[in-house]
Amino acid sequence: MRAKATDMHSKDCVKVAIRVRPFNKRERDAGSCCIISMVSTSISIQDPRDSQSRRSFCFDYAYWSHSGFTRDHGGLYVPEEPGGRYADQDRVFQDLGEGILDNALQGYNATLLAYGQTGSGKSYSMMGYGPNKGLVPKLCDRLFQAIRDNQENIQCQVFFSMLEIYNEQVVDLLSRGSRAPGGLRVREEQQRGFYVEGLRTIPCESAPQVEQLMEQGTRTRTTAATHMNANSSRSHMLIILQLKQILSKESITKQSNIYLVDLAGSERQRSSGSEADRLKEGTAINLSLTTLGNVISALADMAVGKKVVHIPYRDSVLTKLLQSALGGNSRTVMIATLSPADICYEESLSTLRYAERAKRIQNRAVVNESPTERLIKELKAENARLLQRLNRMGPEGRRAGDESKELRQLLTHNELQIRAIQTLWEQHLQEALKDWEQQYANITQERRMMQMHPYILNINEDAQLSGVVKLFIQEGEWDIGLCDSSPRSICIRGLGIQERHAVFRNERRRVTLTPQTGSKVIINGNAVSQTTELQHLDRLILGSNSTYLFIGYPSERGGDDWSRYDYDYFQSELAAAEGISLGESSAGQCHADPSLLAVFYDYIQLMPMVAEANQMSQELGKGVEFKLEIKNLALSDSKGHDLQKDTVVRVTSTGSRQVWMWSKAKFVNRKFLMEEVYQRYLAKQSQDNREEGVTAVTLPRDKDPFWDPVEPLLLGTAHLWLQSLAFRIPLEEQLEVLGSEGTEEAILQAQLVPCTSTGLPLGEDEILIDPSEALGRRMDFQLVLDQCCGVRWIREARNRGLQIGFRVFDCSQPLYTPAVWHNVNPLLDHRVHFASLHTSQCLLDYLQSSAVVLELWGLQEGCTNLRASLEVMRMTAEGVFIIDDSHPPEAAPVDSELGCSVRALQQDLNELKSVNASLRKENHSLREQLHSAKNGAEGGRVRLARHSSDAEFARALKVFYHSMTSVRGQLQRLRRHRPSEESDLLGLRLFVDEQSLLLRDFSEQLEHSVSTLKQDVAAIVRRKRERSGTWS
Ligand SMILES: Nc1ncnc2c1ncn2[C@@H]1O[C@H](COP(=O)(O)OP(=O)(O)O)[C@@H](O)[C@H]1O
Ligand SMILES: [Mg+2]
Repeated sequence: MRAKATDMHSKDCVKVAIRVRPFNKRERDAGSCCIISMVSTSISIQDPRDSQSRRSFCFDYAYWSHSGFTRDHGGLYVPEEPGGRYADQDRVFQDLGEGILDNALQGYNATLLAYGQTGSGKSYSMMGYGPNKGLVPKLCDRLFQAIRDNQENIQCQVFFSMLEIYNEQVVDLLSRGSRAPGGLRVREEQQRGFYVEGLRTIPCESAPQVEQLMEQGTRTRTTAATHMNANSSRSHMLIILQLKQILSKESITKQSNIYLVDLAGSERQRSSGSEADRLKEGTAINLSLTTLGNVISALADMAVGKKVVHIPYRDSVLTKLLQSALGGNSRTVMIATLSPADICYEESLSTLRYAERAKRIQNRAVVNESPTERLIKELKAENARLLQRLNRMGPEGRRAGDESKELRQLLTHNELQIRAIQTLWEQHLQEALKDWEQQYANITQERRMMQMHPYILNINEDAQLSGVVKLFIQEGEWDIGLCDSSPRSICIRGLGIQERHAVFRNERRRVTLTPQTGSKVIINGNAVSQTTELQHLDRLILGSNSTYLFIGYPSERGGDDWSRYDYDYFQSELAAAEGISLGESSAGQCHADPSLLAVFYDYIQLMPMVAEANQMSQELGKGVEFKLEIKNLALSDSKGHDLQKDTVVRVTSTGSRQVWMWSKAKFVNRKFLMEEVYQRYLAKQSQDNREEGVTAVTLPRDKDPFWDPVEPLLLGTAHLWLQSLAFRIPLEEQLEVLGSEGTEEAILQAQLVPCTSTGLPLGEDEILIDPSEALGRRMDFQLVLDQCCGVRWIREARNRGLQIGFRVFDCSQPLYTPAVWHNVNPLLDHRVHFASLHTSQCLLDYLQSSAVVLELWGLQEGCTNLRASLEVMRMTAEGVFIIDDSHPPEAAPVDSELGCSVRALQQDLNELKSVNASLRKENHSLREQLHSAKNGAEGGRVRLARHSSDAEFARALKVFYHSMTSVRGQLQRLRRHRPSEESDLLGLRLFVDEQSLLLRDFSEQLEHSVSTLKQDVAAIVRRKRERSGTWS
């Protein structure tokens, strides 16, 4: 081997490139801003929530593929003007691909990694889409061209392998047999390092051959994704190209391995803050990616001189296979892809940080010599020596001697060995060629069929896997389903696909689809059960989530491009049929509120996952059902107008009727664990060769993703508005408890009673006209929860119970009523006394603008009741809860002069206020005495009916507040009013009519309340005038 001395010791840093892609449809819909800017190779990212915060990074290459491009007639994306800043696939290849190729031709190992969040453009850069070929196909093109150019001097052998790491299992994407359970083994050998045992390595002679193998690999990924219900964004795809060069003149051989890696999506499922899942995040979700991060960190630390004891290569399959690419014998390039949209800020920043660390890694690459070729050289040398010895022996010696016989034997043996080594390649190549021809014939056949027949095309969440499977619908009648036995059948697999799922009929160039009873078929968003004629570009969803696009006869096709019907399109259409959609303007853009958009995309992301979870639950016999719900956060907001929404998943056990509510993060985590269980089940099932009697999968509870301990469930809330308390007016209400989707869960009778410190209700004389009179004074009131009526939760299953939870002002904890069980109209009879010892402005503001949110909690068998820990609450000896206690006057700071004078002023103010109040009171009673003296006659009663205008005014207000409560109720009902799930155009019209009725009711009630108040006030003023007329 003739590696140069400098090569042996030179260090190569990992080269890092960044690429930003154009906005996708979601981002355009959301009116996203671009937060990435590039100048030469430096790149800055702007925090969208903080204009001051901007981070800059510098890399080896930076590619602006966000704007400044057009699509030429061939579908290629090219710069708008020659020399524009847009970096197309060619530019990226010139920088990165050529380098890799050069390295490989020189005999170095080379690695190219694509890193980034799902949908950021990893596969676009690596593999490419349609005419916009990515690095890998371009590299192969150039590689074979280089081989052809040097054919006289160098004999080359190229081997191709393609594999996927999913959930720490290695799957050979080119294997023709069934996949090995548990995947292929990764082994280690002193010489070779880590390698995949039994991985197919296919000799290749041309770029089209390689491309076809890639197509084959992608097809395997696609079928695995649909059959095994595996998510491709969580898998790593590796292509390994082995290049052997035999330079006969120099009598050296070089061997290099090129690793091309499309990594799993880098996004982490952020758990939704407060609650962590009982089951740990599926440990293998991204063990490989996490370990890759750890390896990179350790190597980056090492590069800056930190002491690193251990580099965790062995912790994951991916890092084992990439060991030489990272910190070893390889020249490595990483392309990190970004979305430049503001909504992706966190992910993009984390990608940039990751890339920055990778940049520091140092490798020591050497030119490799192939051991087999060395053997040939050695054998040849030995043969030469043997021949020399034989020649020296002379003819006689050669004929007779034992030694000569032995030498001869050795010679033939060696020659056989040399031939074996050399013919192996030829033989392999012949086999591969046969294979290739077969495949090529298949592809040509498929192309021909596409021009003759209608077909359905698979659409996958991962655009890279869309359009890979084409199923043709020829003339006649065809069953579609699992059935592979019938000759007239189209075989598909996937969650919820029946043996005979539906029937296609193709007669007189018209294609219809008839679902079989019990099977799920959705066409263009609507469930169908009847025979339906299909039109070109109709969207089909079969079973839980097998999505296909129907392509009609060539005459119907026109020049349209089907790429607009992507996975999002299918799911949005389905959501729209459920009444959940974003209005679109004619320009195809909508300007929905961003938080609403986020919920919408959450919804359409979760919708198919929920369908799949349901199917898995059914197949595994888990007896739970999942349902997606949109939770209105206004329900738990004390001001009642925060319209933020969130998606949650309701889980119901079909047997026990127990119910759980899962956050999005928890559901996504659980769904992954369910997939793992399901895949194990499928593997086992195929192992047992479909023995009869599929039994339910039993798992220990601590590992069962379908199970959780039972907990109380928040069913709904009611708002009890506090305004009247500020005026010391008692309030009695029948409140509607509304669930998160606006359903009436119960009616709750509640009261607010202003009272004395001992709990006696205050009389009407205590009503305040001006709430600020209460400032600084003690205020007592009671919250009374009398009864709950018509509780839906208990009506549905009698073995349930309920509690009401509530939190008033600054209480550190919610309080709960005792649990009541088995009764649809349970008596609560619960009374809680609250007091503010020194009423603050803050409390008064709260009373006038807020409501107590009364939470209806559903209890179910086996769950523990909700309880407030009273130790942390401030209470008087009589059991009165103290609120508004955060800044009692005695706790005011005394250290500063300013503090002292403020306190003094405050005291003065309070004193003045109380003087004022007592003066008013005196004035009041004086006036009353005067009045009663004038009217004389009613004298005998101890308590005079108050005819003062103040009291009348207060009563008018009371009436007004009462009516406002129902107006508010009406408003909330309006806000939650939605068209029903099956609404068609007629349904929508009905909905609009209903909505206008509700609106009319609402405005009438509002008008009525206001006009009553106006009339009352006018009457009071009139009477006051009249009375003052009497006095004068
Ligand atoms: N540089 C780019 N130019 C144009 N479109 C791109 C670019 N990068 C990505 N896309 C598009 O974005 C979508 C997602 O890209 P993809 O490469 O599949 O993402 P990933 O592999 O990272 O999940 C695809 O539809 C792809 O065509
Ligand atoms: Mg991809």
